[in-house]
Amino acid sequence: MIEPAISTKDERDDMSSQVVLSPLEAQNAPERVVSIVVTPMSLDDIPAVMAIERASFPRPWPERAYHYELTENPNAYFVVARAYESIQTSSVPHSPWHRLAVRLGLHSHPAPAQPLVVGFAGMWMQVDEAHIATIATHPGWRGRGVGERILVNLLREAQRRHAITVTLEVRVSNGVAQNLYRKYGFEEVGRRKAYYQDNREDALLMTVTNFDTPEYRERLDALEGRLR
Ligand SMILES: CC(C)(COP(=O)(O)OP(=O)(O)OC[C@H]1O[C@@H](n2cnc3c(N)ncnc32)[C@H](O)[C@@H]1OP(=O)(O)O)[C@@H](O)C(=O)NCCC(=O)NCCS
Repeated sequence: MIEPAISTKDERDDMSSQVVLSPLEAQNAPERVVSIVVTPMSLDDIPAVMAIERASFPRPWPERAYHYELTENPNAYFVVARAYESIQTSSVPHSPWHRLAVRLGLHSHPAPAQPLVVGFAGMWMQVDEAHIATIATHPGWRGRGVGERILVNLLREAQRRHAITVTLEVRVSNGVAQNLYRKYGFEEVGRRKAYYQDNREDALLMTVTNFDTPEYRERLDALEGRLR
């Protein structure tokens, strides 16, 4: 997204939602449920972030850039998305003893596996402008709503910080990312010639111009509602 640069995290509300990966094939069949939770990035997340970074960008940011953003840049807001997986069993038709045990809290489901970092993003606040500096989903998790959940988290944070506009750069060839941004009201407002150093590709400059309006807030509410 942006060329490598050197940009706190804040304790913020988590944005969590559930994605049912496999439909119930039969009653009582175990169901894999994955919850995607977006939280501020910590230094411990950097190795996992770097793995996604290297798999996603031709000119990855160096590790020290993330260290800088998390420890020295007061205008930075960086997050990770984690996937928590759990197995749930259907409640029907269980015995009366099973139902009683569930009611009394004596029945427990298997513990969720260790959460995985499946995506990340970073944003800088520049006065009343929120600038999305980077966003990526682990290649094995793309197309499952992770990028969208991360973007919504950033946009909500921009609202909390009273941004008037949100901006970003994207490669002209990156149609997937542009689709995501257009879905959330970003429009092309300019072009930076030969912005990317690896192939001298142009960048589109995209912004949400009506970010600070009731219409946009309604749009964001509706889109976020569909994610839940
Ligand atoms: C761009 C990126 C972050 C999207 O993340 P993702 O988790 O795959 O996206 P989601 O599953 O949340 O999809 C959200 C929207 O993105 C768009 N999108 C996602 N995959 C798409 C595809 N294969 N083709 C076209 N549009 C697609 C759609 O608009 C989609 O909304 P929809 O489901 O209503 O159609 C991801 O592709 C990525 O990491 N790319 C590499 C890094 C990168 O290019 N970052 C952006 C730099 S500017």
